[in-house]
Amino acid sequence: MGRLVVVSNRVADPRKTAAGGLAVALGEVLNDSGGLWFGWSGKLVEEPVGTETQMHVHHAGPVTLATVDLTREDYDAYYVGYSNGVLWPVFHYRLDLADFDAGYIEGYRRVNQMFARRLLAMLQPDDVIWVQDYHLIPLAAELRSLGCTQRIGYFLHIPLPPPLILAAIPGHDWLMKGLCAYDLVGFQSNADLDHFCRYIQDEAHAQPAGEGRWRVFNRFIHAAAFPIGIDVGEFRALTAAPEAQEMYQRMSREYSRRKLLVGVDRLDYSKGLPQRMRAFRELLARYPETRQSATLIQIASPSREDVSAYTDILHELESLCGSINGNYGELDWMPVRYMHRTVARARLPGLYRASRVALVTPLRDGMNLVCKEFIAAQNPEDPGVLVLSRFAGAAEQLKEALLVNPYDSEGTAAAIHLALQMPLEERRERHKALLATIRRTDVHWWCDSFLDLLGQAEAEESGTP
Ligand code: G6P
Repeated sequence: MGRLVVVSNRVADPRKTAAGGLAVALGEVLNDSGGLWFGWSGKLVEEPVGTETQMHVHHAGPVTLATVDLTREDYDAYYVGYSNGVLWPVFHYRLDLADFDAGYIEGYRRVNQMFARRLLAMLQPDDVIWVQDYHLIPLAAELRSLGCTQRIGYFLHIPLPPPLILAAIPGHDWLMKGLCAYDLVGFQSNADLDHFCRYIQDEAHAQPAGEGRWRVFNRFIHAAAFPIGIDVGEFRALTAAPEAQEMYQRMSREYSRRKLLVGVDRLDYSKGLPQRMRAFRELLARYPETRQSATLIQIASPSREDVSAYTDILHELESLCGSINGNYGELDWMPVRYMHRTVARARLPGLYRASRVALVTPLRDGMNLVCKEFIAAQNPEDPGVLVLSRFAGAAEQLKEALLVNPYDSEGTAAAIHLALQMPLEERRERHKALLATIRRTDVHWWCDSFLDLLGQAEAEESGTP
C-alpha cells in the first residue's frame, strides 16, 4: 500500500499524550508510511468567504501535518451549523434539535470543496486516503470531481440512524450519494451498518455484490463494521505513570470510607447526563444505605459552546446537581461532585482506577471510548464495575458490563445498586472478559483491519463496472 493520507476536521500531533489513543494509533500508521494528516487548523480568520486562507505545514517526525484556517462564516455554516446543528443531532436520533437552515448545507459543501482542492494539490499517485467522521462526508465526491482516482476510505465515528430518520434531512440523497463515492465505508457497529445497507437499498436501489460489497450509483463500494478501540497497552502504561498514580493515591485516601462512582463525558446532550443524575437521585431515594456511602464524580468537559443546545443542557445539569446536593447532602458528604472542566488525560487513569463504578450511560453514542479506558485502567485483582447504556455502540461488544436503558431511571438505579454491591469474584470474572475483548479489538486492530480491507478493495475493484 502507498502513502497514507488521513483527513479529519481536527488534527492532533500524535506524539503528544494529550492527543489520545486514536491520534497515537493513526500516528503510528502515518509514521510507517511517512504519511500526511490534513484538516482544519482550529483557527478562524475574520476574512470574507472565499478568501484563500493560510495553510500550516508541520512535521512530526516522518509525518506531515497540514492544516488550513477557516473564515468565521465558513466555521459558522460548516462546523457549527451543518456538522453540529444538523448532522450531529440527526445522527444521534435527535430530529427535535436539528436546525435545517439552508445556508448551512451550502457552507458545508463549500468547505468540503475547499478541503478537496487544497488536499488534491498535495496528493501523490499511489496515496491511500482515509477520511474521518461526519464533517467530511462529501469529500470523496468532491475529490473525484477534481479528477482524484486514488483509493478513498471513510469511517463514521458517530452512529448512523435508520433510513427514515436520515430521510428527514433535506438533501439526504445528496449526502448519502456522497458516502457512496468512497471505496470502503466503515461504521462503528453492526446496527449502523445495517441502517446504511437498508438506506442504499431502499433509496438508491443498491444491489448486493457479496461479502459486504454493493453496486450502487454505477460503481462498487464495500461497507463493513469496525468497532473502534483504544490502545490498551498505552492506557495501562499511563495508569502506571506518576501523574495517574498520584491521582489514584489522592482519590483512594479521600474516599477511603466511601465508594466512588465516576462519569467522564463531553458536555453533550447525547451523553444522557440529566438522565444519569435522575438515576443517581433514584438510587439515593430507593436505597438509603447508599447515602453517605456513595459519591458520584461527574466531569463534563466544555464542548461546542457556540451551539445553543449545548448551553441548554449545561443549565439543566447544573440545576439537577444542585438539587441532589441540596436534598441529600450532609455537612460531611456531598453526593455529587460535578466539574464543568477538562481533566488532563494523564490523570484520568488514576481516577478510573480509584472508582468502584463507572457510569457510561449515553442516550446514543457511536462507540464510547471512556468505558474501554475505564476497563483498561482497573486493577484485575480488585476491579470496578461498568454500568453501560445499551445505546452506546460499545454495548454490542461489552456484554459483561451491566447494560442499562438510560431513559429508565429506576432500572438504572437498580443496576448501579447491583454494581456497588457486586462480590469480588463476579467483578473479576466480568472484568477479565471485558479486558480480553478490548485487547482483541484494540485501536491497532481497528486501523489494520480497515486499511487491509481498503487495500483489498483496491486490488479487486479498480475502475467502475
Ligand atoms: C466526537 C466526534 C469527533 C470530534 C469530537 C470532539 O468524538 O466524533 O469527530 O472531534 O467529538 O468534538 P469537537 O466538535 O470539539 O471536534
